[in-house]
Amino acid sequence: PHILLINGPNLNLLGTREPHIYGHTTLTDVESQARAQATSLGATLSTFQSNHEGAIIDRIHAAAGHGPLNPTKKEEEEPKASMIIINPGALTHTSVGLRDALLGTGTPFVEVHVSNVHGREEFRRHSYLSDKAVAVVCGMGVFGYRAAVEFAVGYLRERGE
Ligand code: DQA
Repeated sequence: PHILLINGPNLNLLGTREPHIYGHTTLTDVESQARAQATSLGATLSTFQSNHEGAIIDRIHAAAGHGPLNPTKKEEEEPKASMIIINPGALTHTSVGLRDALLGTGTPFVEVHVSNVHGREEFRRHSYLSDKAVAVVCGMGVFGYRAAVEFAVGYLRERGE
């Protein structure tokens, strides 16, 4: 099975951004660890990070086999993803569009947060995605990505993928 790992706004700063909250591991490390982990479990994993809501929505569409409307703007070839693991960053708390992209393509997804969003500001407690996620991980630091990858492969395998 193929898994797509998406990280939203500001997660390119992982490792240097508010390390008391998000730790010292960089996104590059998280992504290469996730790729290696997927390979060792017999799956494949590609990664995508963007600070732009629309770019993330386009990538979710592409991962479900829906190309961009403008055929001159060729996206890089993306294998269809059986599952998306997504840390939407701040879009978690704001984006109906992101929710609609995930629901519209029907790709099952796991929501990951590095920090415990329930122990911080009140506005971080609401997610536009959690009620539709297969699973939600938060507060485990970057270990949450590792947990999500192992869970995703097991989940897909149980369903014959
Ligand atoms: C986050 C939590 C969000 O509230 C925040 O906006 C982020 C990161 C996390 O991984 O803990 O950017 O998703």
